Amino acid sequence: MSASLAAETPTLRVVATEFVRPMRGASQPFLMRCDDGHLYVVKFRNNPQHVRVLANEWLAGRLARRIGLSVPDGALVSVGPELLAANNALRFQLGERSAPCAAGIHFGSRFPQASEYSLVVDFLPDRLLRGVRNLAEIFLGAFALDKWTCNCDGRQLVFHRGSNQEASTYAAFLIDHGFCFNDGEWNFPDSPVRSLYPRRLVYEGVRGLRSFEPYLPRIENLTPGDLENCVREIPPEWCGQETGSLMRLIERLYERRRRLRQLIIDAKNSSLRPFPNWE
Ligand SMILES: Nc1ncnc2c1ncn2[C@@H]1O[C@H](COP(=O)(O)OP(=O)(O)OP(=O)(O)O)[C@@H](O)[C@H]1O
Ligand SMILES: [Mg+2]
Repeated sequence: MSASLAAETPTLRVVATEFVRPMRGASQPFLMRCDDGHLYVVKFRNNPQHVRVLANEWLAGRLARRIGLSVPDGALVSVGPELLAANNALRFQLGERSAPCAAGIHFGSRFPQASEYSLVVDFLPDRLLRGVRNLAEIFLGAFALDKWTCNCDGRQLVFHRGSNQEASTYAAFLIDHGFCFNDGEWNFPDSPVRSLYPRRLVYEGVRGLRSFEPYLPRIENLTPGDLENCVREIPPEWCGQETGSLMRLIERLYERRRRLRQLIIDAKNSSLRPFPNWE
């Protein structure tokens, strides 16, 4: 896992070897160990949200990394019928009934576990949140990414650190990009009040558009080829029925780069007033 400005991230293809536990979340993901020895939070193709959630995770994760944001490694996770047959828990709860997870290729988000003693949490109290190592860059970069991709969910992260590093701070990774591009719709219903992190202290450092540097020019300077590289490995079965829709999605994304600054200004002017220190 890294936040480097890599031109291209190699594609991770792994095979699930062990079911560990279900995770929280509406897509009902599962923690699974894979044959590279790592743990992954796996969202299945037939999850209760939408098949395109997997494509959204892949594309937004790649875009995030392309502009230098910290995201867990994303992987194509193969889950075989034998593993499913051996684990009754690998089912989705759908009200009164349940349905089995499908075999095949699914999306995995690598769990940031350096050792079994690592601490990985979804929420931090204010004092620890303020001390997060990459606080300003990750939240402001994420906001630019989310406005651009029209993330229709609130911003979500995981925080992690080794448990033996008593004095050390947490590092953060962006997770859950399932609702970028408006879930399965692949359109952009922009709203100035979307995509914010519920804890507003993370935006206290915003002084103006300049606070979102260097992410704005990084997004604005992406080429059509950069975007194509980010979708190249997406399995067609993650995209739903309509062929060609993925290409249309990245064309629209490419066009939207020009609106990004205005989208941030619209958020600043919204009733939520998320950036009280804007000058
Ligand atoms: N890479 C990761 N490392 C550690 N934990 C993770 C990772 N990805 C997801 N999680 C954990 O799994 C939970 C569910 O993931 P996520 O939020 O992506 O699922 P979801 O179904 O989209 O949830 P939602 O209900 O927000 O739609 C997260 O709250 C987080 O605790
Ligand atoms: Mg979530």
